[in-house]
Amino acid sequence: MTYTDLVKKPVLSQPVYEPGKPIEIVAKEFGLEVGAIVKLASNENPLGPSPKALDAACKAMESINLYPEGGGVFLRTAIAEARAVDPAQVILGNGSNEIFELLGHLFLGPGDEVVFGAQAFIVYKLVTLLFGATPVEIPMPNYSHDLEAMREAVTERTRLVFIPTPNNPTGTCVDEEALKAFILALPDHVVAVIDEAYAEYLNPEPDFRELFASGSKVLCTRTFSKIYGLAGLRIGYAYGDPELVDLLHRVRQPFNTNAVAQAAALGALNDLEWVDRCRKDNETGLQQLTSGLNALGHEVVPSRANFVLASNPTPGETFQFLQRMGVIVRPVEAYGLPGHLRISVGTPEQNASVLTLIKEMEMTRRARPDPTLV
Ligand SMILES: Cc1ncc(COP(=O)(O)O)c(C=O)c1O
Repeated sequence: MTYTDLVKKPVLSQPVYEPGKPIEIVAKEFGLEVGAIVKLASNENPLGPSPKALDAACKAMESINLYPEGGGVFLRTAIAEARAVDPAQVILGNGSNEIFELLGHLFLGPGDEVVFGAQAFIVYKLVTLLFGATPVEIPMPNYSHDLEAMREAVTERTRLVFIPTPNNPTGTCVDEEALKAFILALPDHVVAVIDEAYAEYLNPEPDFRELFASGSKVLCTRTFSKIYGLAGLRIGYAYGDPELVDLLHRVRQPFNTNAVAQAAALGALNDLEWVDRCRKDNETGLQQLTSGLNALGHEVVPSRANFVLASNPTPGETFQFLQRMGVIVRPVEAYGLPGHLRISVGTPEQNASVLTLIKEMEMTRRARPDPTLV
């Protein structure tokens, strides 16, 4: 018997998530200084976390000989206050990715179906496959979710529907009222998951809480990895119906989020000024990248998040060139978007340098003799 004989069958064909390349690895590969690398590949906050979050994390480091508070009661209470729900409606996750996996534990097995957009965040598909369930991927015309087509794809076997707004990698939002109506019309055996990873970049933020009292089965997820700048600490959360949240608590590990992450997230949540500044800087950065790329003839999908999806005539070559020059962006063929690159919003200097490099590369490419004419 080999491990392959013994392992659960879905694992054998399970794709592995490909993260953005880490700075240290790119620096080593191309002989560059770590400090000179610009990472615009994973939609992180270029300003970093709030100083209040950093202070809280440092303080929490003094007690890391102790287990964290298992359910993260202080952070959950603060989140509940911020979202105006009850703490019993909130669960923490090791990143919001963990919440998606907990949903898999609760609801998915072979024969079950999960509906999501074909260019929606890829982890929905990974979780679906991991539990041996069937992904039902719905085309996204104009890079946007087609709620009507998603509704038509729901069958007796559908257990989960994922709707990210804004979505990664397209940056597009679903109309708030249309999404509420879509969820209200879902059959009783379907749980809707609204992924709000980038919601804090919207002003005003959408508000789906009225759905909790409607009897609809719905869960909202959020993260501290994006505007709060804590991606490295892995902390996110979900809020929704207390019965569903209670079920999610049963399938999580006893200490699924660590003490430093809990403390930092609490500090971050209390610094609204920082969040406001990050949101405003992001708006400026989005404009800078969008107009800069447009000027180079690249189409940019209007983005509501902290990244842009841009058309690119030679995405592979551009990615390689930028990487050699110390700028890491994200190719998105895995999302069925071969002629595109996703570029996270950086600082004004970082945005300027990616634009300059793309321009430089295109000028060199145009100056090259056409091999078909030789
Ligand atoms: C749409 C979306 N949802 C969820 C996540 C996961 O975030 P985390 O697990 O870091 O909380 C990401 C990360 O990029 C994302 O883009």
